[in-house]
Amino acid sequence: MIKQRTAVLAVGLLATMSAVLAQTSSTDEIAKYRQMLADGNPAELWEMRGEELWKTRAGPNKVSLEQCDFGKGAGVLKGAYAELPRYFRDVNKVMDLEQRLVHCRVTLQGLSPAEAVKTPFGAAGKKSDIEALVSYISAESRGMKMAVSSAHPMEQRAYETGKQLFFYRGGSHDFSCATCHSVDGQRIRLQELPNILNPINAQAAYTTWPAYRVSQGEVRTMQHRLADCFRQQRFPEPLYASDALTAVTMFLAKNANGGVYAGPALKR
Ligand code: HEC
Repeated sequence: MIKQRTAVLAVGLLATMSAVLAQTSSTDEIAKYRQMLADGNPAELWEMRGEELWKTRAGPNKVSLEQCDFGKGAGVLKGAYAELPRYFRDVNKVMDLEQRLVHCRVTLQGLSPAEAVKTPFGAAGKKSDIEALVSYISAESRGMKMAVSSAHPMEQRAYETGKQLFFYRGGSHDFSCATCHSVDGQRIRLQELPNILNPINAQAAYTTWPAYRVSQGEVRTMQHRLADCFRQQRFPEPLYASDALTAVTMFLAKNANGGVYAGPALKR
């Protein structure tokens, strides 16, 4: 209850703050807001809704997601996100959290693939169940060290594909991810661009997603982050929960190995 009240209070505060942020959007300001909110991240509301959705019987099969296996056994969420993406024998491929969630909604709950990916990203007046579920599931790895494996050949391949995509240049500006994310201390306007090839930066960037975005008033997942960066790159956006996005995620997640997972966090 107390947790919920803090979060509601935080949302009120944030409304004022986003207006201020729109004008300044400097790193210092964000640090100040983070401090003000301390342990009142509005993402808690998404986590709570996610937990409820996780336990609610839904879909044509009228079952909950509680038997979904994220790699550590059916229904085991503790530490699961810190080891994703990973190889899943039952589908013989590497999946990230969001692909796996879609898989469970289809196989356990009986949703059609189209229904299972409906509303991956929320907007005003249109909540996303996926963002809530992802918040809940990833929060169950908070405080744990990222430990993404590349023991399986398919995990290795996903990593290599992700790496290739990271360095692949093209589009109207001839950009790659590396153009913006492979130099220390680089900025675009006032935003710092993490150097994903520097382990400290890679850890800080990866371990804080999903994140409540003050500027958007929503919790955003890694899929959303990457779709937005493909846009920044002037590339066509890969499909939601596609293997290309899982490969890029594999590259980012593995580069963050050893970092302590701290999401869902709070970001500009
Ligand atoms: C044109 C520059 C540009 C390109 C190209 C680009 N990004 Fe980004 N990226 C950004 C900016 C700007 C942000 C911060 C956005 C914000 O704060 O709203 C960001 C944020 C990120 C973050 C989150 C960092 C954090 O600390 O939260 C990740 C991860 C990321 N990008 C990965 C990628 C990947 C992977 C690609 C290639 C598919 C890519 N980016 C391509 C500009 C770019």
